[in-house]
This record gives sequence, structure tokens and C-alpha cells, in this order.
Amino acid sequence: MPQRSPLPGTTDKRLAALVTLLSENATIVISGARIAREIGVSRSMVWQWIEQLRKLGVRVKGQRRTGYFLEHVPDIITPNLIRKRLKGNVFGKQIYHFFRTDSTNRVAMDLGYTGAAEGTVVLAEEQTAGRGRSGRTWHSERGAGLYVTLLLRPKLSPAQAPLLTMLAGLSAHAAIKTQAGLIPELKWPNDLILNGKKIGGILTEMHAEPSQVRFVVVGIGINVNQEKFPAEISSAASSLRKESGRSHSRVELLVRLLSQFESDYNRFLREGAPFAVQRFLSVSSFAEGRRVRVDSGHDSYVGTTAGLSPEGLLLVAKDDGTLVTVIAGDVTEVR
Ligand code: BTN
Repeated sequence: MPQRSPLPGTTDKRLAALVTLLSENATIVISGARIAREIGVSRSMVWQWIEQLRKLGVRVKGQRRTGYFLEHVPDIITPNLIRKRLKGNVFGKQIYHFFRTDSTNRVAMDLGYTGAAEGTVVLAEEQTAGRGRSGRTWHSERGAGLYVTLLLRPKLSPAQAPLLTMLAGLSAHAAIKTQAGLIPELKWPNDLILNGKKIGGILTEMHAEPSQVRFVVVGIGINVNQEKFPAEISSAASSLRKESGRSHSRVELLVRLLSQFESDYNRFLREGAPFAVQRFLSVSSFAEGRRVRVDSGHDSYVGTTAGLSPEGLLLVAKDDGTLVTVIAGDVTEVR
């Protein structure tokens, strides 16, 4: 695949190499001279990058004279690490990593417009304006969650794009189950819930012609190691750590998520919508028989979930007997 020129703000490959070098030699003091030699920069550049890493919260001990070492191995998701683990996977080929960006979906949309290939992955350690559904923001604490967006170029009509949100939800569900041993509830269309609190969500955005998708970006946010949340969301949000009482490797979770998504996506491309719809119905207990309130902005009603349409849209049977297809809006359970 031809290499694209680096995007402004992405992590310099040599900075990623510095993190890898320090991680592979954790607790051993490595001299600035050796680091400079191994990653091919000057000693003063090494010092500047060490300062930058410290500002980003990586606990590097030591000084210029003595050399440097990591107090503990950081759970930083460097592209190299992911690439090595995802050999042969379409999502292991072109990975953009940011220590900090506004939104990985925003970056992926821009990449989509400039022709980036299917399978491009955008990752961030922190988002300053993470996007959630319905214009909400997604709280994206540094190094605590997974903030990842996948660029896809499927031959689909715009109406079929919600199936990709469902697929990503299914892959995240499976990855969390194998990695953390927790079984979240999958709520249509995109919520991952544990003990009644949201631990993940998917935001799909696209650029499309009336009958054909040009590209889709599927943004996945999973709360992994957050210990607490801002007051305004603390009653509704949780993390894998809070629910399981232990921390989890974001690298391992991401590798599982991308491997799972690749196989689910390929199967969906071969078998079409019924695969996604059937899988969703078999995993989500929410899609049938739950009392819900639907708020679509201009309309609000109560009914009972009644399965999915062939395009993956939620069907709700209103109390007056009419069957409604939910195209957009918030669906909340009423008890
Ligand atoms: C939701 O509201 O449930 C969707 C949340 C989606 C958040 C993810 S984090 C990675 C990607 N980049 C964004 O700006 N948003 C998505």
C-alpha cells in the first residue's frame, strides 16, 4: 500500500519507537546516547520527547545525565504494536495514532475525503471533542478508554449503513466478552451497557450519493480503565474497570476488537444484511419485547420493541397497535 504523508498531529514514528524502546526495557536505565542511536535522532531531541511524554502522562524517570527508564509500562497503543499483532488484517495496514486529537471520527472523515483506503484506522489516547450520538460529546479521558475509528468503503446504499453500527456493536460485545469476561447488554442501535450503565457506544458517519455510500467511518468508544466520570454523566456511565474491579489492557482489547470486526465485516459483505440482523437479534435481549420510549426530536411515544427491519432499524409496536420503524432518535427503556 503506498504510504501517505504524515497527518499533522499524528504521533511521530520515532516518538512511537522511543515509547517501544522504553517499554521493552522497562525499569532498566537507558542512556540518552543509546536512545538517540537506536531511534536515529539527536540527544537533545530525545530530551525534548521525554519531556513531551511526561506532559502526556507517561511516567519516565531519570535525567539527561543518567539516562531514562519507565516507572511502569504504559498502556499506550502505538501503531507498531497493533500492526505486529494484526498481520494480514485489513485494519492493520494504515494506522494513524494521536496522543491527542479533537475527534478520531473527524480525522477519519477528512481522510475519507482525501481518498484514504478501506481499513484505515484512526486511534487516539485522548479526544478533546469526542463526538457522541445526537450531537452529544463523548467523554474521552487520556489513556483510559479506547477511542478508535475505522474507515470503510462498502458497496452499500445509505439506508444500509446502520447495519455497520450494529456490526461494530456486535464485535465490541464479543471483544469485551473474551477479553474481560463481562457480558454487556447490546441496546439498539449502539449502546453497550453493563449493570444499567453505558460502557461503550458507536457513532457512524458517512459521505454518500443518494444511492451509494462513498465511505463510512465507524467510531467506537469503550470505557476501559476510567475510575470515575464527571458528575454530569457519573450516574449513567461506567467502565470495564469499575464493573469488574480490575484494569484491562486496551491494546489487547483493541486487537480483539479489530480482529473480530474484520471477520464480522467480511461475513456481512458475503452474506448481506440478514447476517447482521440475525446476530444482533441473537445477542441483544433488547430488540424484542421491551417497553421503550422513543424520542425522535419531533415525536415521542411509548411501545414495545418488535424486532428489526431488514435494514437493521428497530421496530416498535405502539400501544395503539401500529408498527413504527425507528429511523433516528433516542430509545430508552421504561419500566
Ligand atoms: C454514542 O454516543 O454512544 C457514540 C459514542 C462514540 C464515541 C467514539 S470515540 C471514537 C470515535 N470518535 C468520536 O469522536 N466518537 C467516536
